[in-house]
Amino acid sequence: SGLMIGLVLAGYLLGGIPFGIVVSKAMGLPDPRTVGSKNVGFTNVLRVSGKTAGILTLIGDMGKGWVMGVAAAQLFQDEWMILTVALAPFLGHLFSPFLGFKGGKGVATALGSVLGVAPTIGLTLLAIWLAAVAVWKYSSGGALAAFGLFPLIAAVVHPTLPFTLFAVVVSGLIVIMHKGNIERLWRGTESRIGQRG
Ligand code: G3P
Repeated sequence: SGLMIGLVLAGYLLGGIPFGIVVSKAMGLPDPRTVGSKNVGFTNVLRVSGKTAGILTLIGDMGKGWVMGVAAAQLFQDEWMILTVALAPFLGHLFSPFLGFKGGKGVATALGSVLGVAPTIGLTLLAIWLAAVAVWKYSSGGALAAFGLFPLIAAVVHPTLPFTLFAVVVSGLIVIMHKGNIERLWRGTESRIGQRG
């Protein structure tokens, strides 16, 4: 429908807003693309600019996923439509039209979308991230644990074709975006959460 196409476009554009860059600019802090891991997300803003900027980035990047997920779940019955709209901000964040179709790794935005469409599963992913980070201290490790398990969780808890496909696409893209992190984790050179370098 026209409404769905409009929401997918709006979600993609909203998702394309990199809150790490917006927050850093507004606070007079360095552009996260130029420092640390060069990533625009929560982890890198926290790493180079501290807690306030990091948490504001997290709220913004999660919020844009959450808003679109909740709106889609309210407006549509069809799960394909709901999940297409929920996927849009995640794709906007990864392939931002405002950053030459580059962007972030999508963890916060995907988590927001899942919290919006399937709160229990979203809270499960958040709990896995928190537990893994508490144990390993690697934000990337937590993201890979949570979203690596997402297809399995989907297949067990919400085994519809659209949701399982959504989980596979989100999980696969998040793993691909973390290629450099996976190499650093493997070599033992990944930085721990909140630490520089
Ligand atoms: O999920 C983003 C985080 O897992 C990795 O961020 O800055 O360490 O590459 P960064």
